[in-house]
Amino acid sequence: MFAWPQHMPSEPAPIEARSLRQALAGFCTGVCLVTTVSKEGKREGMTINSFSSVSLDPPLVLWGVREAARSASVYVDSPAFIISVLAADQQDLALHFARPSEDKFIGVEDLFDGGLGDCPRLKRAVSTYECQLYSCHHEGDHFLLVGQVKRFSQSQLSPLIFHRGRMGSLADHALQAEQVATAA
Ligand SMILES: Cc1cc2nc3c(=O)[nH]c(=O)nc-3n(C[C@H](O)[C@H](O)[C@H](O)COP(=O)(O)O)c2cc1C
Repeated sequence: MFAWPQHMPSEPAPIEARSLRQALAGFCTGVCLVTTVSKEGKREGMTINSFSSVSLDPPLVLWGVREAARSASVYVDSPAFIISVLAADQQDLALHFARPSEDKFIGVEDLFDGGLGDCPRLKRAVSTYECQLYSCHHEGDHFLLVGQVKRFSQSQLSPLIFHRGRMGSLADHALQAEQVATAA
């Protein structure tokens, strides 16, 4: 944590979480599914948009999990995870894995096979990154998990996009942006 520099006249006003969240929602992202398996063999999966590339040498990616999330400790303790970038027509799957539930794989088992470290691997996705946990950082109310990519795959599918709390295809978002511009 850095101290506010002496030469600066005054500290800015405290940040209001709600308006910061609203501002951050203007940053457009893709939508991913991250999966892992616990030491006891229980599969976990959650929808995320905090995915980011970090480094090519070594090949590193990262994502963030809220420490209060039901399954957070499983990801922190697991040696591997798999990140799948979801396609535009996988919004239902994104919503399914964004709801807390004891076993999210019931009813969707057929969509997965086994990947690195026995983690469930989504068979159809824009791209998948099978990662070995490289480092884990506890920052604020989140854990940041950095993974070393051991295997990846990609396709030509069009991505699912998240912007201002809405999921949709690139075309859906372009149409919405056009409507907002017209109304202004
Ligand atoms: C588009 C979208 C993006 C999300 N991104 C994240 C994220 O990056 N990190 C996180 O901890 N939760 C994120 N969530 C919320 C989790 O998906 C949700 O809390 C889920 O229930 C967590 O799984 P669990 O209850 O099995 O622990 C996101 C939800 C949505 C719909």
